[in-house]
Amino acid sequence: MSGEGGDEGRALWGSRLGFLLAAIGSAVGLGNIWRFSYTAYANGGGAFLIPYFTALLVAGIPLMILEYAIGHSQRGSTPLAFFKIKKQWEIVGWWLPMVATIAVLFFYAVVIAWCVDYFTFSFTLGWGNDTAKFFTEYLKASGSASTLGDLNIRVAATTALVWAACWAICYREINHGIEKACLVFMPLLLLLTAVLVVASLTLDGAVDGIKMYLKPDFNKIDLFHNPNAWKVWTSAFGQIFFSLSLGFGIMITYASYLPKKTDIVGNAVWTCVANCAYSIFAGFAVFGVLGFMAHEQGVGIAEVAKPGGALAFIVYPKAISQLPFPGTLRNLFGAAFFLALVIAGISSAISLVEALVCAITDKFKIKRGNVVTFLCVAGFLGSMTYVSSAGSSIMDVVNAYADQALILGGLLECLLVAWIMKASVARQHVNDSGGIHLPKIWEFMVKYVTPAVLIVILYLDIKGTVSLFTTGKADVAAHVIYGLRIIATTALFAWGLTMFKWYRKSPHKPEEEHILT
Ligand code: PHE
Repeated sequence: MSGEGGDEGRALWGSRLGFLLAAIGSAVGLGNIWRFSYTAYANGGGAFLIPYFTALLVAGIPLMILEYAIGHSQRGSTPLAFFKIKKQWEIVGWWLPMVATIAVLFFYAVVIAWCVDYFTFSFTLGWGNDTAKFFTEYLKASGSASTLGDLNIRVAATTALVWAACWAICYREINHGIEKACLVFMPLLLLLTAVLVVASLTLDGAVDGIKMYLKPDFNKIDLFHNPNAWKVWTSAFGQIFFSLSLGFGIMITYASYLPKKTDIVGNAVWTCVANCAYSIFAGFAVFGVLGFMAHEQGVGIAEVAKPGGALAFIVYPKAISQLPFPGTLRNLFGAAFFLALVIAGISSAISLVEALVCAITDKFKIKRGNVVTFLCVAGFLGSMTYVSSAGSSIMDVVNAYADQALILGGLLECLLVAWIMKASVARQHVNDSGGIHLPKIWEFMVKYVTPAVLIVILYLDIKGTVSLFTTGKADVAAHVIYGLRIIATTALFAWGLTMFKWYRKSPHKPEEEHILT
C-alpha cells in the first residue's frame, strides 16, 4: 500500500469487482439517464442502435482497451503515462484531464446539485403545477450567457454539498475511497433503476411510450438517401464517447491502479457492455413515464418528450405529480428518480476528480489528501460560473466544446499508442498481462479505422459549430469567453506543468506479480 505521497508505490484496487464497479460508475452517469433515451428516440428509435453499436465496436471498445493498456503498461496518470511513452506528449497528458475538469466537472457538479434539490422537492412535490416556470425561477435563469445576474445562493449551497461529498470519497486512497463508495453506489443504482422501470411499466400508456422509444425509423440513419443522416451518426459517436468517459484519460488513471496480472480485454468489454445495457434499460423508465404523460394529456409522444435538463427537471416532475399512485408512493417514485441521478452523477464526478489528483500526486511530492482538498475547493469556485443566472446558457456553449475535446482526446490517444508506442507493443502488453487474448484486428482498428472515423466525426462536428457562427446563430462573445478561452488557458497551464520534474515513476512491484484482478 502506498504511503500518502510516499514514493514507495501507489495504491491498488482491492478486487476486480471494485475496479469494474468504479469504471462502470464513471461511465454510467447523468448522460445515461437523460441523454441516451432521448437521443435514441430523436434519431431513429430502434434504428439508432445501429450507429450506436457501430460506434461502440469501432471506437468504444477498441479505445477502452487502449486506455486500459496505456494506464496499465505505463503505470501512471495520463501525463505520466504519455511522458513515459514520449516525453513531448506530456503536455497532451495534462491537457486532457484539465479540460475534463473545467469543461465537464464544473458544470456536472452543479447539475448534480439540481438533482439533490429536486430530490428534496419530491417529498412535497414542491415544483407545483407549472414545472417549467418553477425550474426557471429555481435557477433564476436569465436565458443568456452574457447576463450573469446574482449568484443563486440556494444552488451554490447545494453545489458546496456535492463538492464536499466528492472530497469525502476521494480523500482516501483509491481502494478505500472510490472503490468502497462504488461497491455501494452501483448496486443501489441498479436497484433504484429497476424499481423505476417496473413501476413505470404499470402505467397506462407506458407500453406505447416504449414502442415510440424503440420504433425503428431507418430513413434517419440512411447515409445514402438522407442528407441529414450524418448528424445521427455523429451523435452516436458523441454519445458513446461521453457515456464511456473516454478521451479524457479517466480510464487510463483507473487502469494505472490495476495489479500486474489482469484481464484488460475482459474488463474493457464488461465496462462497455454494462454501460450500454444500463442506458437502454434506464430508457424504459424514461419513456414509460413519457408514454403515460402523453396518454393522460391525449397527445402524441413528440409533444411531451424533451432532451436533457428539460426532461429531468420539467417533464419528469410534472409526470411524477400526475402518477396514479397513492400519495407517498408518488413522492417515493420522484425521490428514487432523483436519487438515481445523484448517485450516477457522483460516481462519475469522482472519476473526473481522480484523474487530476492522480496526475498531480504523480508529479509533485504533495500529500494526496491536500491535493484533493485543494482541487475540491477550486472546483467549487469554478462551478460558481454555472450558478449564476447565465449558468444554463453557458453550459450549452461549453458542452459543444467538451464533446469535441473528447473526440480529439480519443484521436490523440490512438495516434500516440498506435503510431508512437506501436499498436503491436500495446497488444503484446495486453496479452502478457493474462486474461482474454486480444486479437490482431485490434491493431488494425486503432491504427487506421478508429482514427479515420474520429477525424471524420470531428470534422463534421467542428463544421457544425462553425456554421453556427456563419449563420449568426451563435452567441459569439459567449463562445469566445467560455469555449475557446477554456481550450487556450488549459493548454497554457498544461505547458507550464511540463516544466517541473517528475516525483513518482513507480514500476510494478514484484510482490504484485501473482495477483490477478
Ligand atoms: N460518462 C458520464 C455520463 O455519461 C460523464 C462523464 C464524461 C464522466 C466524461 C467522466 C468523463 O454522464
